[in-house]
Amino acid sequence: MRIYNPPIPPFSKGGVGGFEKLFSKLKEEKMKTEEIKKTAVIGAGTMGAQIAEVLSRMGGYEVNMVDINDDLVKKGVQSIEQRLERFFVSKGKLTAEEKKNIVNRIKGYTSIEEASKGSDLVIEAAVEKMALKKEIFKKLDESAPAHAILASNTSYLNISEMASATKRPEKVVGIHFFNPVAVMQLVEVVRGGRTSNETIEMACDLARKLGKEPVVCRDISYGFLANRAYRAMVEEATQMVWERVASPEEIDKALRLGYSLPLGPLELADMVGGWSIRASSEEDAIRELGSEKGRLHPLTRAMVRAGYAKIYDYWKDVLSKT
Ligand SMILES: NC(=O)c1ccc[n+]([C@@H]2O[C@H](COP(=O)([O-])OP(=O)(O)OC[C@H]3O[C@@H](n4cnc5c(N)ncnc54)[C@H](O)[C@@H]3O)[C@@H](O)[C@H]2O)c1
Repeated sequence: MRIYNPPIPPFSKGGVGGFEKLFSKLKEEKMKTEEIKKTAVIGAGTMGAQIAEVLSRMGGYEVNMVDINDDLVKKGVQSIEQRLERFFVSKGKLTAEEKKNIVNRIKGYTSIEEASKGSDLVIEAAVEKMALKKEIFKKLDESAPAHAILASNTSYLNISEMASATKRPEKVVGIHFFNPVAVMQLVEVVRGGRTSNETIEMACDLARKLGKEPVVCRDISYGFLANRAYRAMVEEATQMVWERVASPEEIDKALRLGYSLPLGPLELADMVGGWSIRASSEEDAIRELGSEKGRLHPLTRAMVRAGYAKIYDYWKDVLSKT
C-alpha cells in the first residue's frame, strides 16, 4: 500500500491532464479492505482478546494486541487459546495446526506506539471512558501510518469526540462488536460527524469479511441502536430488583418467556461485564443523558462498590438477606 503525499500543488504541473492524473491516483489510493494486512487491537480484556481472535481467525490478519502490562497481555492470549480449543478444535472445526497459526498471528505489546506503527487498521477496545479513549486516539494518530483507519469498539461513547483527538477524523469510525464476538452476528458501524463514506464502506466490508452483519448508524445516539434500547430494559429490571418485586432469576425468566429472549437482561449483563462498563462510564453518561437518566442506579453503585460483578451474586449474598 502506498501513501500519497502530493509533492506539488495539483495545477502547477501538467495543467488539467496533471490534475486528472493526480485525482485518479488519489482515488486509487483510498484504503480498501483487501489492502488491510496488519491490524492492532488496544486492550486485551473481554472484548479486545475476542476481536483480536476474530481478526486473525476469520480475516487472516496479523494482530498486535496491546494492554497496560505483560500479565494482562498474557491473560488475553491465554483466553484466545482456551476459546479456540474449547469451541473450535475440540469440536473439529479447526485443526491444532490451524489454531497454532491463528495464535501465532497475534503478538502481544504493552506500547500503543510500537503496536500501531505499521498497522493498516486499529481497533480500540480499552475501558469505557471518554478521557482514556481520547488519550489513546491521540497516541494512535501520532504513531499509526497516515492511511490507517482508527476504530473504536465503544458500546456507548461518541465517535466524533474521539476523532477530535486526531488529525484524521474522516478515518475514525465505530466498529462495535457484540459479546461473545465469535457468536454474535451484529456489528454496529458508527458514523462520526466527519467519518468519510469510504471509511464506513471499509468498516462494513470488514464486518462481512469477519462473518458479521453490519448496521450503520450515527454517533449522536448514546448506546447507538442496540444498547440504547437494551440499557432502558436493564435499568427497569434493576429497579425491579431494588424494589424486591422478584429475584433477578424470576425477572429474567419473565422477560425470557414473555418476549422470547434467549437470555434475560440481568443474566446477560452479568455474563458480559455490563455493570462495570456502566460504572466506568457514569461521568460520560451524565454528560450525554443528563443526571436523571445518566446516573448509575443506586443498586449498581452499591454492588460495584462492594466488589460484585454479578447481580445474581449480590442478590444471593446481600439483597435477599436484608
Ligand atoms: N464487555 C462487553 O460485552 C462489551 C461489548 C461490546 C463493546 N464493549 C466495549 O469494549 C470496550 C472494552 O470493554 P471490555 O468489556 O473488554 O473491558 P475490559 O475491562 O474487559 O478490558 C479493557 C482492557 O483495556 C485495558 N486498558 C486500559 N487502559 C489501556 C491503555 N491505555 N492501553 C491499552 N489497554 C488499556 C485494560 O487493562 C483492560 O484489560 C469498552 O469500550 C466497552 O464498552 C464491551
